[in-house]
Amino acid sequence: MMERDIRSIEDRISEEHRRLASFFEHLREALGDNDPVAVRLGLDELEAELERHLSQEDQLYYPALSALRPEHRETLAHFVADHDRFRSELEAISRWVGAGEIPRAHACFEVLAQGFAAHEVHEEEFLRGLETEFESPAAADPWR
Ligand SMILES: [Fe+2]
Ligand SMILES: [Fe+2]
Repeated sequence: MMERDIRSIEDRISEEHRRLASFFEHLREALGDNDPVAVRLGLDELEAELERHLSQEDQLYYPALSALRPEHRETLAHFVADHDRFRSELEAISRWVGAGEIPRAHACFEVLAQGFAAHEVHEEEFLRGLETEFESPAAADPWR
């Protein structure tokens, strides 16, 4: 894997984050409207899109980055642990929706949305940092 591969992973991940924002927004609106049908649709959509994104990072991007940059393995493992937390939060939201408890689902959703927003920022910062290491290896390793 080369510098351009890292850049393309960063671009793809950032692009997906922007795309996911619209699914978060759809569900937030449906929850705010207290519309159970729209909430179910919005939740199904968000679950599918988010799972696709998380599993790509878990199974494709992060194992590749981890092999290339073993010194960042711990950071990547933290990201993967966050993914599992998001999955549990989605399950809890789904349970509240199933029980017709939209306000409680909404409260859990806001926790998920806030946690995911922070996660995205960390991922994008981390990936930009990896690019910088490539651009100026001397800064990352003064002995080289
Ligand atoms: Fe992630
Ligand atoms: Fe991500």
